[in-house]
Amino acid sequence: MTGLAVVDQLRERPGVGDTIAIIDPVSEEQIGEFKDGGAEAIDAAVARARATFDSGIWRDKPGSEKAKILWKVAELLDARAAELAQIDSLNTGMPLGQASRNIDAAIEFFRYFSGWCTKINGVARDIRMSGGLNGYDATIHSYSIKEPVGVVGLIIPWNGPAFNAAAKLAPSLAAGCSSVLKPAEETPLSALVFEQVLEAAGVPEGVTNLVQGWGHTAGQRLIEHPDVDKIAFTGSTEIGKKIVEAAGGNLKRVMLELGGKSPTLIYDDADLERAIPAAAMGIFMHSGQACVAGSRVFAQRGVYEPVLQGISAFAGRLRFGGPNDGKVHSGPIISERQMNRVLGYIDDGKNNGAEVAIGGHRLDRPGWFVHPTVMTSVSSDTRVFQEEIFGPVVAVTPFDEDDEVVSLANDSTYGLAAAVYTRDLSRAHRLAGRLDAGSVTLNCQMMWDPDVSFGGFKQSGWGYENGELGLDGYLRSKSVWTML
Ligand code: NAI
Ligand code: MG
Repeated sequence: MTGLAVVDQLRERPGVGDTIAIIDPVSEEQIGEFKDGGAEAIDAAVARARATFDSGIWRDKPGSEKAKILWKVAELLDARAAELAQIDSLNTGMPLGQASRNIDAAIEFFRYFSGWCTKINGVARDIRMSGGLNGYDATIHSYSIKEPVGVVGLIIPWNGPAFNAAAKLAPSLAAGCSSVLKPAEETPLSALVFEQVLEAAGVPEGVTNLVQGWGHTAGQRLIEHPDVDKIAFTGSTEIGKKIVEAAGGNLKRVMLELGGKSPTLIYDDADLERAIPAAAMGIFMHSGQACVAGSRVFAQRGVYEPVLQGISAFAGRLRFGGPNDGKVHSGPIISERQMNRVLGYIDDGKNNGAEVAIGGHRLDRPGWFVHPTVMTSVSSDTRVFQEEIFGPVVAVTPFDEDDEVVSLANDSTYGLAAAVYTRDLSRAHRLAGRLDAGSVTLNCQMMWDPDVSFGGFKQSGWGYENGELGLDGYLRSKSVWTML
C-alpha cells in the first residue's frame, strides 16, 4: 500500500494490452499495475489531438489566455508539489529532496513558457524589387507567421518523470500544439497529476492526451502515426534512431535528446575543493542516471592522484538508500534490467584491462543499488569509455596538455555536455570553443535553467529544449508576400 491516489487511478484506466507492473526499485516490491494502452489508445489520442488542433480551440486562443492557463498550471502543480515529489520519489527511488528539486524545476517550465505565449511573432520587411529573378519592378511587403507545428508526440524516460513531462508539455502548449504524451512504462504515476492539473487549469479537453504503455506498442505506434507532425523524445540513442526511421513514413519532425558520455576536465591549477565534489556528484547523483552525467573524468598529470583519491573517497562516503532510509545522497537504479546493464559494463571494463579503484558491485541490501564506482586504466577503445552506462560509474584518466585532452574528450559518438575546471580563464573559454558538446560548463557542472537552450551534438540528439530555441522546435514559419 502506497497511500497514493494515483496508483488506484492508474489501475482503473482502461487499456487493451498486457498488465504492466510498477516496481519500487528500493524494495523490489510491486506498488501498482496498469494496462498497456497499446496502438488503440494512441490512435484514439492522436484523433482527439488532431480534432482539437484543427478546431483551433487551443491554437487560436489569444496568447494572453494561453499564458494565464500555463501560469495556472504552475500554481496548481505548486499546490501539489509535495505529493508530486512523493510520487516521483516512490516511483524512481530518488531521495525526497532531490525529487522536490525536480518538481520545482518542472513547475518553472510552465512559468517560463507562459511568458512566451504572448511573444510568438514573425518578422516583417519591405522589399524593393527591381528586375531580379522574376522581373518584377515592385515594392513587396513580406512577413512571416510562426504557427504551431500541429500534433506532437511526446515520449519521455524514467529518470525524471515529472521534469521530463513538463519539459515537453510546457513549450508544446505555449506554441499552440496539441499533443499525446507517453511516459516511460517504469514511471507512469506523476503524469496522472499533470493530466488532472492541465484540465483543472483550463487546457481544453483533448489538447493534451495521456497514453500509458510500453515503448514497443504504444510508443512505436505514436512514432509511426501518419497524423503526428512531430515527435519530441528523450531516451536512448537506440530508440532515437528508430524514431528517425519511423519518421520517414510521413516525414514528421523529430527532436531527440539522447544522453551522452560527457567529459570533465580538471587542470593542475583547478580549485580542487570545488572540482572534486562537483565532478563526483556530476556522475554519482541519481546513480548516474542523468543525460549530462560526467562519466569520463580527465585529470591533468599534476593533480591526477589527488583527483583520483578525492573522487574515490567521495564515492566511499556517499550513502545510497531509499526515500525512507534517512539522509541519503542518492537512490537506486530504476530497474533490475538497468542494474544488470550497469554491472555488465563494469565487468566488460575489467575484462578489458580496467581497474576498479572503488565500488564495482551491488550494495548488500535489497533494491537495485550499485556502489559508486571509480575505474582507472580505461582504454579509449573500450565500451566503458565509449558507451553511455547510465549508472554511477566513472573512468578517471590522466592527461598532459590541451590538444591531448581535447582529442580524448571529443573521442566519442556523443556530444551532450562537457565541464572544465581551471583558474586560467582564457584557457577555459578556448576549451569551450573546442569541446564538441552542446553545453559546456566552466568551473561548475549540472547547470540548468528553462531560459538556456539545451541540446546535444553528434549522437546526443537533434534540436533543442529550453529557451527560445526550445520553443521554436514546436513552431513552423510561414512566409507571406504581398505586392503593394
Ligand atoms: P528507452 O529509450 O528504451 O526508453 C525511453 C522512452 O522511449 C520510454 O518512454 C519508452 O517506453 C520509449 N520507447 C521504447 N521503445 C520505443 C519504441 N520502439 N517506439 C517509441 N518509444 C519507445 O530507454 P531505456 O531502454 O529505458 O534505457 C536504455 C538506455 O537509454 C539507458 O541505459 C540510457 O543509456 C539511455 N537513456 C537516456 C536517457 C536520457 O536522459 N537521455 C533517459 C533514459 C534512458
Ligand atoms: Mg529501451
